[in-house]
Amino acid sequence: MAEETGNKSARDYGIGIPQKNVLYELKGANNYDWGMKDRLSRVFNPKSGKTVMLAFDHGYIMGPTSGLERIDLTILPILEHADCLMCTRGVLRTLIPPTFNKPISLRTSAGTTVLNDLNDECIGVEIEDAIRLNASMMAVMCAIGDKQFEGLTIRNLCKSIETGNRYGIPTLGVNAVGKELTRDARYLAMAARVVAENGAQVVKTYYCAEGFEQVTAACPVPIVIAGGKKLPELEALKMARSAIDQGALGVDMGRNIFQAEDPVAMIQAVRHVVHEDAKPQAAFEMYNDLKTS
Ligand code: R5P
Repeated sequence: MAEETGNKSARDYGIGIPQKNVLYELKGANNYDWGMKDRLSRVFNPKSGKTVMLAFDHGYIMGPTSGLERIDLTILPILEHADCLMCTRGVLRTLIPPTFNKPISLRTSAGTTVLNDLNDECIGVEIEDAIRLNASMMAVMCAIGDKQFEGLTIRNLCKSIETGNRYGIPTLGVNAVGKELTRDARYLAMAARVVAENGAQVVKTYYCAEGFEQVTAACPVPIVIAGGKKLPELEALKMARSAIDQGALGVDMGRNIFQAEDPVAMIQAVRHVVHEDAKPQAAFEMYNDLKTS
């Protein structure tokens, strides 16, 4: 209990100095509550306003994907260079040391695998477990345009947003693009916008070479791009550069990092592009310098 007598009297009131209201500058996020902003600022570096998320949740639909057969051997050495880890709770609990203290984008939707029609999903991780795991974000797949499962996956997204808003945890809407759909700006802009209109605080989508700036312009929340299938390293760095130049606020990259010849060098080269505005060629030179031959 505070002493009642002999206290130094309070007098430094700063009379005449208006209280500062510091704007939270992440796209679309200024009106969120404090906890939500705190979590988002763990994911998006407050200095650069951007993020390099490392995605290694592929096993939930693909099983032991190339590069992810032994996460303890291949992914742990990369983690220190990532701003945020995107993974499943199974991998998080069994393989990721909590001492890393990195923000987690927890894969919370679950459903069919590549052995079946994808996208038949539910919310497989309840909010209590996401809180227990100290998730900074919940990642939910959304299949806009899927004839069978569009409605189902939008309902999953809305459920996640509802519960996430209750506890201040943002939802990352992950746009899945079915084989029959074209990944052009028109489709991607629509899919991203639908996910944001339903309340997702962050949208993950693919990059498209033509008109990607329309996708980011029409989306009121940050967009991060998936890397997609493995490209030559320079191509992947060019894609990251173009996406950032056209308004993406980061990458949520998997195969183009963990399937690179040297994943530790590659994630640092990607960081150089995303956070330090490096040109692809400079980042590629950095990759080659860091690469262990
Ligand atoms: C797919 O299973 C996941 O949503 C991945 O996290 C996503 O596709 C990003 O990984 P990649 O860069 O390998 O496409």
